[in-house]
Amino acid sequence: MTDVNTFSHPILITGGAGFLGSHMVALCLEKRIDLVVVDNLSNSDLSNLQTLEKHFNVTIPFFNIDIRDQDKLKDFFNEHRFSAVIHFAGLKSVAESVANPDLYHDNNVVGSQNVIDCIKAQGIKNLIFSSSATVYGDPQYLPIDEDHPVQPYNPYGETKAQVEELFIQDEYFKTASVKLLRYFNPVGSYKCIIGEKPNGMPNNLMPYILGVARGEYDFLNIYGDDYETDDGTGVRDYIHVTDLMEAHWSALMDDVIGCEIYNVGCGKGFSVKEMVKAFEEVNQVKIPYQIQPRRDGDIATCYAAVDKIKNHLNWSAKLNLESMCRDAWSVNS
Ligand code: NAD
Ligand code: UFG
Repeated sequence: MTDVNTFSHPILITGGAGFLGSHMVALCLEKRIDLVVVDNLSNSDLSNLQTLEKHFNVTIPFFNIDIRDQDKLKDFFNEHRFSAVIHFAGLKSVAESVANPDLYHDNNVVGSQNVIDCIKAQGIKNLIFSSSATVYGDPQYLPIDEDHPVQPYNPYGETKAQVEELFIQDEYFKTASVKLLRYFNPVGSYKCIIGEKPNGMPNNLMPYILGVARGEYDFLNIYGDDYETDDGTGVRDYIHVTDLMEAHWSALMDDVIGCEIYNVGCGKGFSVKEMVKAFEEVNQVKIPYQIQPRRDGDIATCYAAVDKIKNHLNWSAKLNLESMCRDAWSVNS
């Protein structure tokens, strides 16, 4: 177990202005851990960090750097030392990755290789990478455990699988503590003060429900009610972002050497209709919906086996669907 007092330098949080990165910033501030954020603000702005600065009465060291800019990144690592790196920075839209696979390869894979080169040059040994359940593709069995074949079906998922391999194949990381976290579907907000603020029209379910609740959209499009699920709509493993960040904390504190892959989910699936019903009941807001054809590339059901992370890192999700719906709405209403 790592002792936080042995962190002689700050933690670097790449992508720290984004949805999940800013929640990690919040957790570190709560635990009084020094941190530095790198982000190029391509899918975020500074508002979450500014909210946290006010809330915690601190200044968050922020560097506007594109991780594809090798020279700038090297200079930055030459000027700062870090005890750990949590690498969130990346593009995450499946649809955009299909339209522009080269951009996704360049941003997510080449960018991550640059981060890895700098990590190695400085000799940093405590690392977390944001991977995704999307690497499993269409599940061959449920719940999906970490031994399930990796068979991504879109360029975004391919970039995540490729970056995992960059860590797994590199001899250097056999002497470091590396956690490759495969997130399922994160939703919610940190203590209702910061939340998810996607640029433009949301692709994901919860931000779209929030848009309908705010009156920005007349109804939710439900993509398919003819799946082989109890009510015909898609089933996913939603996880509260607060739980997800606690999983990062457990990963950061674990000093077992080597590269380990962990699913991070609740281990339970909820359908789109169940999400809508839970949201309506908890928040007393009506979410009208219309059934549309299936969305390209969607799968029927996806939920995680979570025994490995429970057994190795002693972490499991605590917050239920009601908390996710309440906290998502309370920061966005
Ligand atoms: P986000 O878009 O809110 O945050 C990502 C941040 O990275 C943004 O602030 C963006 O500006 C920054 N970024 C992107 N490319 C960059 C670059 N080249 N240089 C510097 N900064 C760059 O997304 P998020 O939901 O917070 O996701 C964080 C990570 O988790 C991503 O890698 C994503 O693929 C992964 N992930 C997210 C989900 C999800 O549903 N949110 C699920 C699985 C995995
Ligand atoms: N859905 C709708 N209407 C919408 C949006 C989504 O009915 O407006 C449905 C989808 O068809 C699916 C479910 O809600 O059945 C969840 O869809 P999301 O888009 O919220 O999430 P996905 O499971 O498709 O994908 C998300 C991220 C990926 C990540 C994956 C990990 O977009 O980047 O979770 O499981 F890899």
